[in-house]
Amino acid sequence: MKAVRLDKLLSGLGYGTRSEIQKLARAGGIELDGTTLSDAAARIPVGPDLPARLQIDGRPVDPPPGLALVMHKPVGVTCSHKEDGALVHDLLPPRWRRRDPAISTVGRLDKQTSGLLLLTDDGELLHRIISPRRHVAKVYRATLARPLTGQEGAIFASGELMLEGEAKPLAPAQLEPLSPTEARLTVTEGRYHQVRRMFAAVGNHVEALHRERLGGLALPEDLAPGQWRQMTDEEIAAVFA
Ligand code: URA
Repeated sequence: MKAVRLDKLLSGLGYGTRSEIQKLARAGGIELDGTTLSDAAARIPVGPDLPARLQIDGRPVDPPPGLALVMHKPVGVTCSHKEDGALVHDLLPPRWRRRDPAISTVGRLDKQTSGLLLLTDDGELLHRIISPRRHVAKVYRATLARPLTGQEGAIFASGELMLEGEAKPLAPAQLEPLSPTEARLTVTEGRYHQVRRMFAAVGNHVEALHRERLGGLALPEDLAPGQWRQMTDEEIAAVFA
């Protein structure tokens, strides 16, 4: 297990500057395994059990770096750190905005798209999930303005569909009609507004879009829109399954 200086750890988790952490330690606000830690320069072992061992002002410390979250993104919030309006980061505890390494969304969903969104401060994990070479499937349910014609499945599966303004055709994608105006679409790429632009390319319009799945991980049924929780190791592995 890695040992990290207490003041460095806590300032990286957003609890304050190093001198603020020193003051807090001297004031008796930090306890490790039930014993007050008054030396902010002490090195402490950092593992997943840290919140069970380290208390800040009587509360379990926030999860250490290496955080991965699964969220049910609601419609109307933006996947960005700093844009006007409601942001997915506003759904997390305010202190988490000050974390370093920062928490980023794994790819993006449009403001008007809902569903499965992952967030992490682990750059290596993030790149493994979004890397085009991994072909992690992204499964969307689209509600359409006009009935499906029956041609869309073959066009999307062809590997020849060109999106406006792009030089390379889309990789084959699978369409599963669910009703005349609803379809499930599985893609392996993550181009800008990809699903909306695919339906626009076949003369339709996406009215609602929801991501159901990433690789082998489905949006957990216990998460209502706006809710999130830490991912289990099994859930992280499922993304690549
Ligand atoms: N495709 C889109 O058009 N929007 C999303 O949010 C995700 C995929």
